[in-house]
Amino acid sequence: AIPMITIDGPTASGKGTIAHRVAQALGWAVLDSGALYRLAALAVIDGGIDPGDQAAVARAAQGLDVRFDADRIWMGGADVAARIREERVGNLASKIAAYPALRQALLERQRAFRRPPGLVADGRDMGTVVFADAPLKIFLVADVEARAQRRCKQLKEKGFSANLADLLQDMRERDARDRNRAHAPLVAAPDARTIDSSNLSVEATVKQVLDLWSS
Ligand code: CDP
Repeated sequence: AIPMITIDGPTASGKGTIAHRVAQALGWAVLDSGALYRLAALAVIDGGIDPGDQAAVARAAQGLDVRFDADRIWMGGADVAARIREERVGNLASKIAAYPALRQALLERQRAFRRPPGLVADGRDMGTVVFADAPLKIFLVADVEARAQRRCKQLKEKGFSANLADLLQDMRERDARDRNRAHAPLVAAPDARTIDSSNLSVEATVKQVLDLWSS
């Protein structure tokens, strides 16, 4: 089997950063599955598709013409890496991610990322659904306060205005949507190792994952 590590967890738990660092250390590829949900949301917005029409949303995802190229994400001839990080895109992604037909439409696309020499996949259901046979599964958590503070700092560093109270509220709503959806809710796989990064640096978290992989 092709080596792989899945990293699942709630919003702003640092999955993306940890996944990239771990992949870099091992010389593997990364799948940011959240980016696919964001790309689907962007296609819905740009295509003028009714976000409530589940079949139409799934069709849009099926037809996504995307190419990942280092930090760039090409869709329909444009680099949309920055646009998919917009708040309204993330919000719509969080809503349409509840649609079973959309999740199904993205399934094979995600599995196609698994190739030698290895893959680190981050998301919500990497270890429970998409790569249920992965040899190492990490469930990365952090207190909602720690996550809101990180996101706040990140936004301010990028020059955006950010309000901690609003971010906390938004994060709690996203957590509830992720955990309460009927299809592929956010839960740790039974064989996942939980890492709480509330009081851990990025380096220390990466080391824990790499230690688990080599043990
Ligand atoms: O970290 P953040 O919540 O801002 O976003 P993300 O990880 O980029 O994911 C965008 C949205 O897609 C989230 O709201 C998740 O609910 C959803 N998602 C999912 O349902 N399944 C995945 N494997 C990855 C993301």
